[in-house]
Amino acid sequence: FDYLPLAGKAVMVTAGPTREPLDPVRYLTNRSSGRMGFAIAQAAHSAGARVILIAGPCALPTPAGVERHDVERASDMYSAVMARIDEADIFIGCAAVCDYRPIDEAHEKIKKGAQGIDLALVPTPDILRDVASRSPRPFVVGFAAETHDVQSHARGKLLAKNLDMIAANQVGDGQAFDVDENSLELLWDGGGKSLPQQPKHELALALIKVIVERMGLP
Ligand code: PMT
Repeated sequence: FDYLPLAGKAVMVTAGPTREPLDPVRYLTNRSSGRMGFAIAQAAHSAGARVILIAGPCALPTPAGVERHDVERASDMYSAVMARIDEADIFIGCAAVCDYRPIDEAHEKIKKGAQGIDLALVPTPDILRDVASRSPRPFVVGFAAETHDVQSHARGKLLAKNLDMIAANQVGDGQAFDVDENSLELLWDGGGKSLPQQPKHELALALIKVIVERMGLP
């Protein structure tokens, strides 16, 4: 950035996967590396913002100047977000939060038997929805990871969760998760913008520029 459009603003970013334990040694998770969310945190900092990064388990260095909080489960991420959300002018939910967790966490390692086992799963709390339903609330940007009908599913999430913007990406076949480049389809009420395939740190800068424009910041 050749000027600091987010000077004086606080940005909260979630990044990475969550891990939902089954027992002391096993968990459910997904393929998120945290790269996209960390790049967004770095881009927001370079735009002059104070940045709070809430990170699921990922092996990435903390971007310079960014305040990082590490969490494991979706419920931990929910608590960490809600503890500080009042400070945020902008919330960007890039984490691949597990939608379900095992209903029980066994305290001892589940023993292997001859039979298969059934896993009962229950939904995790929806961080993005609850941030967006606060009043007052920050400018809220969600992500949508879709394997098919990307635009229509993303627009559904934009409306259902009452977001200011959604960043949709095509996933599956080695796309978006755990790779260095990505493309995003940004959607908002009445419009949108395509950000073409590029390294995630460049994509993050482009995303921050569109957020600045949509917020009407100088
Ligand atoms: O981390 P990388 O390897 O760089 O990969 C980047 C990415 C593919 C993870 C990223 O670009 C991305 O798409 N992130 C969102 C992944 C996701 O979980 O999408 P979703 O469509 O399932 O969720 C929709 C939105 O709801 C997301 O903003 C998510 O953070 C949020 N959510 C979901 C469930 C939940 N319990 N709470 C939430 O806040």
